[in-house]
Amino acid sequence: MPNRFRFTAAAIALAAASAAAPLAAQDGVADPSIWPQYEYPIPRIEADEARIASLLTRMTLEEKIGQLVQPDLCCVTPEDVKRYNIGSVLNGGNSGPYGQDLAPASDWLKLADEFYEASVDTSDGGVGIPVVWGTDAVHGHSNIIGATIFPHNIGLGAMRDAELIERIGAATAKEIRVTGQEWTFAPTVAVPQDFRWGRAYEGYSSDPALVASYVGAMVRGLQGPPDDGRILQRGKVIASTKHFLADGGTDDGVDQGDASISEEALRDIHGAPYGPAMEEGVGTVMASFSSWQGVKMTANESLLTGVLKGRMDFGGFLVSDWNAHGQVEGCTNESCPQALLAGLDMYMAPDTWKPIYEDLLARAKAGELPMSRIDDAVSRILRVKLRLGLFEAGKPSDRAMSGEYELLGSDEHRALAREAVRKSLVLLKNQGVLPLKPGGRLLVAGDGADDIARQSGGWTLTWQGTGVDNSHFPGATSLWDGLQEAVTSAGGLAELSPDGSFTAKPDAAVVIFGEKPYAEFQGDRASLQLDAELAAPYETMRKLREQGVPVVAVMITGRPLYVNPALNAADAFVVAWLPGSEGAGLADVLVGDAQGEPRFDFSGTLPADWPRTADVADGVLYPFGHGLTYATPAAPWTALPEDAGVAAAGDGRTFLLAGVPASSWSLHISDPSQPGSQTRLTTFPAEALGGRARITVAEGAVQEGARRFQISGGEAAVSLSTLEAIDVGRETNGDVMLLVSIKMTDAPDWAGIAMRDEAGAMQVSSAQFPESEEFVRYGLSLKCLRDKGIDMTQLSMPFVLATEGTADFALAEARLGTDAQVVLPCT
Ligand code: BGC
Ligand code: BGC
Repeated sequence: MPNRFRFTAAAIALAAASAAAPLAAQDGVADPSIWPQYEYPIPRIEADEARIASLLTRMTLEEKIGQLVQPDLCCVTPEDVKRYNIGSVLNGGNSGPYGQDLAPASDWLKLADEFYEASVDTSDGGVGIPVVWGTDAVHGHSNIIGATIFPHNIGLGAMRDAELIERIGAATAKEIRVTGQEWTFAPTVAVPQDFRWGRAYEGYSSDPALVASYVGAMVRGLQGPPDDGRILQRGKVIASTKHFLADGGTDDGVDQGDASISEEALRDIHGAPYGPAMEEGVGTVMASFSSWQGVKMTANESLLTGVLKGRMDFGGFLVSDWNAHGQVEGCTNESCPQALLAGLDMYMAPDTWKPIYEDLLARAKAGELPMSRIDDAVSRILRVKLRLGLFEAGKPSDRAMSGEYELLGSDEHRALAREAVRKSLVLLKNQGVLPLKPGGRLLVAGDGADDIARQSGGWTLTWQGTGVDNSHFPGATSLWDGLQEAVTSAGGLAELSPDGSFTAKPDAAVVIFGEKPYAEFQGDRASLQLDAELAAPYETMRKLREQGVPVVAVMITGRPLYVNPALNAADAFVVAWLPGSEGAGLADVLVGDAQGEPRFDFSGTLPADWPRTADVADGVLYPFGHGLTYATPAAPWTALPEDAGVAAAGDGRTFLLAGVPASSWSLHISDPSQPGSQTRLTTFPAEALGGRARITVAEGAVQEGARRFQISGGEAAVSLSTLEAIDVGRETNGDVMLLVSIKMTDAPDWAGIAMRDEAGAMQVSSAQFPESEEFVRYGLSLKCLRDKGIDMTQLSMPFVLATEGTADFALAEARLGTDAQVVLPCT
């Protein structure tokens, strides 16, 4: 159907975006001489060095360049690996073997074999360097169904137990080995300074000393000791400390943003974890997406070469982050010699590896890139491959532990994760209700109680941790499962009731609430506030208390947030962080023994300050290191002020929620055939348009948490806009989509979804919305719309639904996200 939609840019007058504040004079050039010196401990093996030298003389330039690029599974075949002598492949958060993110473990191993065999195939006369596969095993082998999922790093930070960290690293390495990968993009050693950052939970703590005290243990657990041993032979994998440097130090906690901090702060706060990483001989380091003093890390020579490789003596290789090179000044995703020249060794070029390869090759041939730099990068990669023992290891399925699927989520590993959950819990309040007596009647409430995906957070099976449910976690235990088991095995009764209602009055209630999974892009917030729609359990807590039921609040969260209403409403308050697959660790500590004595005491303490309000400037309620135990005498509770300190701000990613525009957004209906017909939907009931009342909006703001539109014919448009254009340029780099939840009761003759940028460029894609009784969440790729010419850095209307003909539909939600049920073609 031709695009007959005539919605004009003139229909809405938009104010120009305000000018950005100027940067203070800073140059982003580090002085290596003020940084601590380390000695990389891995001995140079003479035979290896001779082998590297001989390979370098035999490799063609093409073969060398091939080692420097790392495609994602999305966009590379074993045939490509052979033909281009690809050095490494990765699976990004949304990728899995054969196009299936949730492929079974055996498929991962099978594909590992295929890549390996293609890489060592010398039938075309090449030298055949074995490929290495990198994966984000960031809290266990977290892309694999059935693997043990350990608590995310923020919870591990609460434990203060480096010895356990090493055991977790060792268990994770074993599970990775089962499916044939050799390299994990972990540990994240960020030192988050602003918890509005959506990746803060990937860091252990805001305290550099605590992070530094863990890093060596995790690297050793993953790789083994820093000696001349072969890593694969001892059942280990290569680690990667990331993201170098100051990923956790960006202004306002903006992901991929700029850390406009002094060099001393850069060194002392964010640099601290890299010392122990060097001392343990970490095999790889990943450069950060972010900038320091306005200069993107991916091409900051003073830090990559001067500090890391020079002063810190890093002897492994340096990989970039997902198309991060494209953000370097003067670069694009397809071309960025600047990064190699600054000291980068391997380009993570998921879908752009071919142009990057061609570009590097052409420049090398033209003499624009010194051979010495190319040879150095290749040598570093080969050195790590030799240290792995990759040349002698044979194909993945022939290696120790490969295919031993019973190691995934083995009892031993699960016990370790459960121990970590136990030790990571932080008790913030206990007015005598804990420990729970197992013999009684326990009510477990809250929508997060029986949801393993929710308690695992982002980077779990899928990129954002969305789109999966309990059925994807065989062998795992939800928080509810663990509580139920502990209570019933002691002869008590447990009841799961998400909304807190009950028939027989319980002796106590546990109300589980908190954040929903998110990862990069989706997790950034404007304030330290729990999203408004997640606060409903506060009311459940209050009601239970009014009914005389003592309440224990358990918070699932990636970060400290303002939750004073819950702290007041509950008799006890426990922070569970993002515990992962072994929810029973919660019950171990909450539920006492038959005599009502604790089986385990609380030992976790806060890995970062807990805020007084949602405004980061308002200071601390509970400081870093705070945490109660059963032995702490219960002081009388003084009610905390319930003032968030900030307006309930939209998060910049949600435009419409439950049929209501988020603050600073407005919903419009218009008749494109009648210029000036636009009506802003602010008041209800029913507004009509164009004199002919062709469009009506159902009475009442909300109907099933949505707004209903009835159109009696002709052209109509429903749109969302804001006065200040938004910048979603970064999101176009990942698989982020515009998501809209629509229930189509009577489908129009034609429908289209559109976006419009500040300059008026508009892209309309025809879309099919089949009639349905249910809401369907449709997704439209931002990346695709960018490629069609919409300026995503200046987006003024992220959502327009255009129709022709009679229609009747309800609109519940419009936001950015990744969990579409149906992906719309972008045409
Ligand atoms: C990938 C992630 C990656 C992200 C970066 C996504 O499409 O699946 O692994 O981290 O993009 O933008
Ligand atoms: C993330 C990295 C991750 C990589 C591969 C990036 O977007 O920033 O932490 O290792 O994707 O998935």
